[in-house]
Amino acid sequence: MDKAQAKLQIDELTATLKEHNYRYYVLSEPTISDLEFDRLLKQLEYLESQFPDLAHTDSPTRVVGGGVINEFETVKHRRRMLSLGNTYNETELREFDSRIRKAIGGEIEYVCELKIDGLAISLFYENGKLLQAVTRGDGVQGDDVTANVRTIRSLNTELHGNFPAEFEIRGEIFMHRKGFEKLNRERVSAGELAYANPRNVASGSLKLKDSSEVAKRPLDITLYHLLGENMPFKTHAECIEAATSWGLKTADTIEVCNGIDEVLRFLEKWDEKRHDLGFDTDGVVIKVNSLALQEELGYTAKIPRWAIAYKFQTESAVTRLLNITYQVGRTGAITPVAELEPVFLLGTTVKRASLHNANEIERLDVRVGDRVFVEKGGEIIPKITGVDFSQRTENSVPTVYISTCPECGMPLIRREGEAQHYCPNEDGCAPQVIGKIEHFVARKALNIDSIGSEMAKTLYSRGLVKDIADLYDIKIQDLLQLERMGEKSAQNIIDGIQESKNVPFERVLFGMGIRYIGETVAKKLAQALGSMDKLMQADKETLLGIDEIGEVIAESLVQYFAVPEHRKLAERLRAAGLQMETMVKEQAQAGTSLAGLTFVISGVFSKMSRDEAKDLIEAHGGKCSGSVSSKTDYLLAGEGMGPAKLEKATQLGVKIISEDDLFAMIGESTKEQASSEPAEPQKPSQTTLF
Ligand code: IVH
Repeated sequence: MDKAQAKLQIDELTATLKEHNYRYYVLSEPTISDLEFDRLLKQLEYLESQFPDLAHTDSPTRVVGGGVINEFETVKHRRRMLSLGNTYNETELREFDSRIRKAIGGEIEYVCELKIDGLAISLFYENGKLLQAVTRGDGVQGDDVTANVRTIRSLNTELHGNFPAEFEIRGEIFMHRKGFEKLNRERVSAGELAYANPRNVASGSLKLKDSSEVAKRPLDITLYHLLGENMPFKTHAECIEAATSWGLKTADTIEVCNGIDEVLRFLEKWDEKRHDLGFDTDGVVIKVNSLALQEELGYTAKIPRWAIAYKFQTESAVTRLLNITYQVGRTGAITPVAELEPVFLLGTTVKRASLHNANEIERLDVRVGDRVFVEKGGEIIPKITGVDFSQRTENSVPTVYISTCPECGMPLIRREGEAQHYCPNEDGCAPQVIGKIEHFVARKALNIDSIGSEMAKTLYSRGLVKDIADLYDIKIQDLLQLERMGEKSAQNIIDGIQESKNVPFERVLFGMGIRYIGETVAKKLAQALGSMDKLMQADKETLLGIDEIGEVIAESLVQYFAVPEHRKLAERLRAAGLQMETMVKEQAQAGTSLAGLTFVISGVFSKMSRDEAKDLIEAHGGKCSGSVSSKTDYLLAGEGMGPAKLEKATQLGVKIISEDDLFAMIGESTKEQASSEPAEPQKPSQTTLF
């Protein structure tokens, strides 16, 4: 490519990406997927690296969401910053409570806090002084925005009282509505575009390069999660109380509730009162108060089991349902989509909304032609919440759910206990196959960035690629026959495919697109089993023995590999030269004194964390499992262990031991240093539907 061509492309890509940034950050109305955005960004990055003097100073490769980010250092969080599960109604909330009571027994004491709609921040204090403030980022690492955070007036950077020497505290940075409105008025009168909502401004402000500019923004902070080693607190409420006593700003609306009924009363109260607060709240966070029980309940791969967010109903509008269409996803799942008469809602025009599944359509009794209530639940995906039956016309016809795939005509199936219909034609239904190819080449999977959405479609429609393994049979001559395909692009594709052969096994496994095998789970499986062979041989029992692998995932894997075509696919990927084994991270094998023994860990320990206990057992040849069964040899019991586990262990005659007993078994008196958690990037995925 000559310089003139490069300039044209760079200019065009820069303008396009800026437009998409604006739609995403300012309008909250993205029109392309994250994947597509990343693809364009990569393209621009590449061109800029070839022709650095053509790069715009404010190029989107350097700027995200209105702020220059390459000035901020990326730092790893000391502990992962997780998200929360969501509930939208009483039934779901009661289910959350039942799950906890089942695991623990008895009435649970919860803490309720308003869920402020801002952006999460992690602060680290040493000797009472703020040392570092890091944005959530992908949960594993974020941007060091300390200088900007120091400008927040309500944040105390020098504490008083009896604070621990070191601790981390997390909270939310947000902007009051008044301050936001004033800022917008100033922007508009300066001829600039108004921001969409306070949240976006708060987030954009933290990414500003010049801290004196940040200081002009009326930002506020509330802290809600204290973390540290060897702290004397027994409950979350005590932690918050202590943090307040050190001079930190915490919520004054926090309440301890005894049992779920009291929680519901808190929700009811704030559903009304939140409008008088002067800042945006999108719900309530409900947390188990006892820290020992929190530890006992633990985490799934992405969220804590001891906390949940209850989302308030948000702004709604009424519009007409013009049609119901059906989308087929990568997994064959059918999503009914409401095509709406455009309506303005919380700052954006809504034309489509998800109807989720057949049950939802039935529950709402929604019909084409109805006037429907549309709601935006804080996120960017709108939903239909009801029908205005008083406006229903006499000739309205009940909705009949489709019975065949709108793309390939195959009769749909619905698995027992599942709400979603599926098109079973995995290997022949265009959107499924294309979706699988797109998923396979995505950055977090095989990272073949020379193949984007359009190219995946072309390769499929031209019959060059019918499944992911076909990618490895593509010849450059095949590509050169495609329209508008130059030699350079064709070579890029071939090179990308070639390079993907070095991608680690865990990402190959993720890329295969097996149901429920997300990035985190793929990593766990790869680490635990070590190879594709072992995975293909693993029975359900074996899979269930792996940390964080539950029924649904185990079942999905067993079913997947029970299909001969899937085994063949894995073999073809192997034959193509892909990585099928985990690169072994040398784990120090300290001994074999626990070989053949299975442990269940419960409660909190004074000399080590639960993760350290697990590493210690494994380093001495033992195995750890999540639940007590007849196969359990020992229950390693800490303080505040779950009564359910204790009862089961007693029933089954499982030996119950303390941490000191464990040390004695492995013949040492002090704990060993355990390795830290593996890094795991996770970026909130954005739907491509709307
Ligand atoms: S607790 C593991 N408490 O909501 C505990 N989060 O949807 C995770 N948030 O990322 C967080 N108010 O940014 C917690 N009182 C509160 C909160 C809160 C707002 C945000 C936070 C988090 C998101 C999860």
